[in-house]
Amino acid sequence: MEGNFTFHNPTRLHFGENAMDALARELGAFGPVVMLCYGGGSIKKNGIYDQVVGVLEAAGKKIVEDGGVMPNPTLEKLLDGAAKAKANNVDLILAVGGGSTIDYAKAVSVSAWCEEDPWQKYFLRFEEPECRIIPVGAVLTMAGTGSEMNGGSVITNRAANLKVGKVFGPAVYPKFSILNPRFTLTVPRRQMVSGIYDIMSHIMEQYFSGADDSTSDYIAEGLMRSLVVSSRAAVKNPEDYEARSNIMWTATWALNTLIAMGKTTDWEVHMLGQAVGALTDATHGMTLAAVSLPYYRMIKPYGLAKFVRFAKNVWGVAADGKSDGQIADEGLAALEAWMRELGVAMNITELGANAAMIPDLVKATFRLSGGYKQLTEDEVAEIFRQSL
Ligand code: NZQ
Ligand code: ZN
Repeated sequence: MEGNFTFHNPTRLHFGENAMDALARELGAFGPVVMLCYGGGSIKKNGIYDQVVGVLEAAGKKIVEDGGVMPNPTLEKLLDGAAKAKANNVDLILAVGGGSTIDYAKAVSVSAWCEEDPWQKYFLRFEEPECRIIPVGAVLTMAGTGSEMNGGSVITNRAANLKVGKVFGPAVYPKFSILNPRFTLTVPRRQMVSGIYDIMSHIMEQYFSGADDSTSDYIAEGLMRSLVVSSRAAVKNPEDYEARSNIMWTATWALNTLIAMGKTTDWEVHMLGQAVGALTDATHGMTLAAVSLPYYRMIKPYGLAKFVRFAKNVWGVAADGKSDGQIADEGLAALEAWMRELGVAMNITELGANAAMIPDLVKATFRLSGGYKQLTEDEVAEIFRQSL
């Protein structure tokens, strides 16, 4: 562990089939006005909405409805929500949904009382909030982003062709999150596998950086091994509670900052994927899957030792008699085979991108320096070409 760090994760998590029992207790800490944020209506079909409203009403809360949070929440929606939260003097924002709804709730929480343009302040200048922050609580309905226990908030600005993630400090993390794996059983299969790939990508983004032999990397390997096992079981039988609960818990630990402690991290796959998302509005995990292999194959020579370790420790590639290059290639081949088993997107064409978009995709891609190689613009373009 080479770096100095402070680990502080203030989110209280309630996990399991009875996790919802904690909601009434948690609500006691907040004032009477609750803004109930949710997405396009899945929670009304599967009964989660009725359960949550029942608990809010029994607790005597005044509910301010704020539905219609879209996947890849937009700046327009954020500005509307912030105005609504302010006008109603909301005491708590309760996000019921996946990463989009929780990310949106965090963005509203720091924008409602913000005197500046929140897009400029948080998503372009990456500043911390100075205004009053409305507390957020979450009921998670789909596993993937880790938003339930982190400060991440990703907002899409359609006019600017940009999708940008801001990582806020602990003051913006959900105060509590309720994780009932049963709630994820109604997630459509394509969305489930997209979430699974998102989890894998979060772990790889933190793993493929640095050369030290950190505890964080060993934890990351354990999480990846667990995810491979549970994802295979879930793809075979989506009703497998054990598998779905392991996936949900892995998602949380993949991105609650623990495995980034004491080491550098990459995040370039997310930059490439977010550019695709900004231009096509494609599902987040699918955008990551579509660009991952060309990216990792390009940077592999610059971080070969880690790719060898990945092959051996995550995929069980046998090393005997093989060169490091061969072992690393076999590791990436195992990753590819697993991705095909899941049925994630293997190129950006199937997500609606085309060759003519490449200049705009390059423009929308932030080029970070934490990985094994900072990409040039030409290399970014080459990755998108190989992802077509
Ligand atoms: O909107 P509804 O009707 O609820 O349907 C949603 C949505 O269509 C559906 N869904 C969720 N739970 C369901 C369900 N359908 C049936 N049953 C359920 N139980 O699934 C669809 C996708 O939901 P969404 O919230 O968009 O998915 P996800 O959790 O993958 O979130 C994606 C967003 O999170 C951002 C992404 O960029 C994207 O905008 N990310 C946030 C991160 C963070 N906070 O740290 C990190 C990630 O890398 C990611 O960038
Ligand atoms: Zn992600």
